[in-house]
Amino acid sequence: MRVLSGIQPSGRPHLGNYFSMMKRMIEYQKTDELFCFIASYHSMTSVTDGNVLAQNILETAADFLALGLDPAKSVFWVQSDVPEVCELAWILSNHITVPQLELAHSYKDKIANGLSPGVGLFSYPVLMAADILLFGSEKVPVGKDQKQHLEITRDIAERFNKRCDAEVLVMPQPDILENVALVPGLDGRKMSKSYNNVIYPFESEKKLRKSIMAIQTDSTPVDEPKSYTDSVLFDIYSLFLDTPGKSALRDRFQTPGEGYGHIKQSLYEAVLDYFRIAREKRAAIIRRPDDIRDILRTGAERARSVARPLIEKVRQSSGLAY
Ligand code: ADP
Ligand code: TRP
Repeated sequence: MRVLSGIQPSGRPHLGNYFSMMKRMIEYQKTDELFCFIASYHSMTSVTDGNVLAQNILETAADFLALGLDPAKSVFWVQSDVPEVCELAWILSNHITVPQLELAHSYKDKIANGLSPGVGLFSYPVLMAADILLFGSEKVPVGKDQKQHLEITRDIAERFNKRCDAEVLVMPQPDILENVALVPGLDGRKMSKSYNNVIYPFESEKKLRKSIMAIQTDSTPVDEPKSYTDSVLFDIYSLFLDTPGKSALRDRFQTPGEGYGHIKQSLYEAVLDYFRIAREKRAAIIRRPDDIRDILRTGAERARSVARPLIEKVRQSSGLAY
């Protein structure tokens, strides 16, 4: 099956991105045909400094490669290196209405959080639909917050196909882990680059420890049992544990004498341990940015070889190939 997903280089990937999307993508690589891209055009809705954007693209690519994305097996590229996606986005924008886009939660949330209501931000879901439909994607693993964008994509595909009376666009299936909650950030809100409440798995040891120590906890004294329900610390730690591990963590919370500081120190050690090999690999990868650029260039050529025939079909069926 063709599996596709993308991540915005609007900062460095955090544990929320890792557990909801990056980890699953890398697992799919073993069994499916994986298309993975860095959504550079999308992040222009929030990143305005070109130097920052360029650096974020390389850093995000290094993270993916270190985590095990194999560019020989999977197609791995930067969105803006396949500009056909913009042409498709324009064509698709004629298959959705303004009132429909006005319903998008992510647009409303981003505006509420201070982003400027630019046209790019407003039409973000149309570009996302183009990302998915340009490559004939069958399955799209994303976090829960992207569910509505997938519904918009399916809507657009259906209307497009209906209008040209042919199955030109493949109908994608969202792949969302419904029973897995959004990963909470240090302050209990959704972990997000825009809330400054994230844990970066590739942070220096000192900063990683500092961010883990900053996880918000209540003021239960050390010598009293602590509640693990509604605990951000418990929820984040659980991501690294199997069922017996979670049950042991519950016991630690309930054992008087175990302070939050001790539990945070164990979490810090668990994170380092979990990402140890990837952290070593990443340090070597980021020292060779030209190698990263080569990998991405080759990936873009492969992606383009899939995109071109599709855009040709779309042009044919829309009347542009007169
Ligand atoms: P951010 O909100 O930090 O800017 P992105 O919008 O780039 O993150 O999200 C990339 C992917 O990670 C998407 O599939 C999104 O659903 C997922 N994701 C982002 N934050 C979280 C979170 N806190 N918990 C689970 N998944 C998340
Ligand atoms: N909107 C996604 C996010 O913020 C990133 C993204 C852009 C994406 N295009 C995509 C994800 C296509 C899956 C498929 O996380």
